[in-house]
Amino acid sequence: MSSELNVVILAAGLGTRMRSNKAKVLHEAGGDTLLNQIIRVVLQVAPAERIVAVVGHQADQVRRSVRVPGIRFAEQLEQKGTGHAVLCARSVLDNADGKLLILNGDGPLLRAETLRALLNYCHPQATGGAIVTTRLNDPTGYGRIVRDEQGLVEAIVEQKAARGEQLAITEINPGLYCFDARLFWQYAGEITPDNPAKEYYLTDMVAILTRHGYKVAPLLVPDETELLGINTRVELAQADKILRSRKAQELMLAGVTIENPDSVAIDMDVEIGADSVVEANVQLRGRTRIAAGCHIGSGSYLRDCVVEENARVLPYVVAENSSIGAGSFVGPFSRLRLDAEIAGGAHVGNFVELKKTRLGEGSKANHLAYLGDSTIGAGSNIGAGTITCNYDGQKKHPTKIGEKVFVGSNSTLVAPISIGEGAYIAAGSVITKDVEQDALAVGRAYQVDKPGWAKKRRNLVKEPQPSGSA
Ligand code: UD1
Ligand code: MG
Repeated sequence: MSSELNVVILAAGLGTRMRSNKAKVLHEAGGDTLLNQIIRVVLQVAPAERIVAVVGHQADQVRRSVRVPGIRFAEQLEQKGTGHAVLCARSVLDNADGKLLILNGDGPLLRAETLRALLNYCHPQATGGAIVTTRLNDPTGYGRIVRDEQGLVEAIVEQKAARGEQLAITEINPGLYCFDARLFWQYAGEITPDNPAKEYYLTDMVAILTRHGYKVAPLLVPDETELLGINTRVELAQADKILRSRKAQELMLAGVTIENPDSVAIDMDVEIGADSVVEANVQLRGRTRIAAGCHIGSGSYLRDCVVEENARVLPYVVAENSSIGAGSFVGPFSRLRLDAEIAGGAHVGNFVELKKTRLGEGSKANHLAYLGDSTIGAGSNIGAGTITCNYDGQKKHPTKIGEKVFVGSNSTLVAPISIGEGAYIAAGSVITKDVEQDALAVGRAYQVDKPGWAKKRRNLVKEPQPSGSA
C-alpha cells in the first residue's frame, strides 16, 4: 500500500435511473450496499484513513451505512457532476501528492486485482496517469475512449456529447481513474460545465491534461463484467447475481458443497466451514457463520446466525440473530429469532418458534410450540403444543424451566413462572404458579366418565322419515 495514495469514491448522486427515493449507493447487491461493496475492494489496496467518500444525496444515511471506521466523508451539497464531486473532496484530503485514485460509487463488481494493476501501471509516457478501459458490445450510456495515434487516451467523450464516429467506439470508461495528484489539482479548475448536461465532468480531465502535454494511459481490462456500472435496477439485479455466484464459487473452492449454486443467495460476509453442505434455495444473510460439517436444508433463511459444528438445519427454517449449537437439529419449519440459543445436541422441530429463549443441551422441543423469553435447562422435553404465555398485554415476562423437566403436550405456562428441576407437567395443563423440583403439576379440569350415556342418546334420536313419493 502506498502512503502517497489517496482514494476518492464518488457517492453523492441520486441515481435518477434507479427510479427510487433512496440514493443509488444505498441499494444492495450481493448482500451489501453498492458503496460498501466498493469500500470492501478498496480496502485491499489502501487503509481506511486514505479513503474519502463524497456524499450528497441522503448524506446522513449514506454516512451511517458505512461500517468501516476511519473512512472520511466530503459533502457535495449540490450534485453538479462527477468533476465537481472530486473537487468537493479536496479539502478533506491530507495532501495533494502521489497518486489520486478516483472510483465511481456505482461499480460494485470491481476486483482488487484490477485496482492493483491500475495503481502499478507504468507507462513511460503516461505522466498524467492511467485509467481502466474495457470493450462493450453495446457501449450505450458510457463515456467513449478516444485514443491518440500512440494508443494513449486523448479524451473521454460522454454519451450525450458523442457524435458520429465517436458513438461507434466500443472502448468505454468504467469510471476508474488513477491521476498524478499534483497535476490533477493543478488543472482541476479547468473543468467547466460546457456540455449538453451542464455538468462538471470528471472525464474532461483527460482532455485537459492532454492539452497541457500530459498523457493518460489506458489499462484495457478484458473481463467487462467486473466493470459494470449500476444505473438501473436491471443492472442492479445483474450485479447481485454476479457477486453471489462469485461468493458461492469461493466457498465451493474452500470445501463447501453447494447444491444448485445458482439457486442460493449467500451474502458477502457469510462464513462457512469445510465439508458443510448447503442445499438448493438456501439464503444465508448478513454475518451468518456456519462451522464445519453442517448441513443447511433447502429453503432455509438464516440472517446473522451462528451455527456450530455438525449441526443440521432441516428445510425451511427461518432464523435471525440466533445460535444453533454443535450437533443439534433444527427444523423443518422452525422459527428462531431475537437471540434464540439452541445448545449443543438439542432438537427443535416443526412449527416451533423460539424468541429470546435458550434451549439447554440435549433438550427437545419437537412439535408445535411457542417458547418466548424462556430459559430451559439441559435434558428437558417440551411437549407438542406447549405455549409460554410471556405477554400480558403490556409487559413481557420470563419462564424458567430447570433441567430434566418434562412438559406434557398442550401445556400453557403463564409467565412469570418457574418450573423446578426434574418436575413433570401433566399434558393439557394451564400452569399459573411455580412448580417445585421433582413435583408433578396438574392444572386441568378432571375427566368425568358417564357409562352408557352415548348409547342412550343415540336411542333418543328419532329415525329420519323417508322423503319423496317414489
Ligand atoms: C460516468 C462517467 C462515464 C462512465 C460511467 C461509468 C462522468 C461524467 N461520466 O457516467 O464516462 O462511462 O460513469 O459507469 O463521470 N456522482 C456524484 N456527484 C455528482 C454526480 C455523480 O458523486 O454530482 C457519483 C454518483 O453517485 C455515481 C458516480 O458519481 O456513484 C457516477 O455518476 P453517474 O451519474 O452514474 O455517471 P454516469 O452517467 O454513469
Ligand atoms: Mg453510472
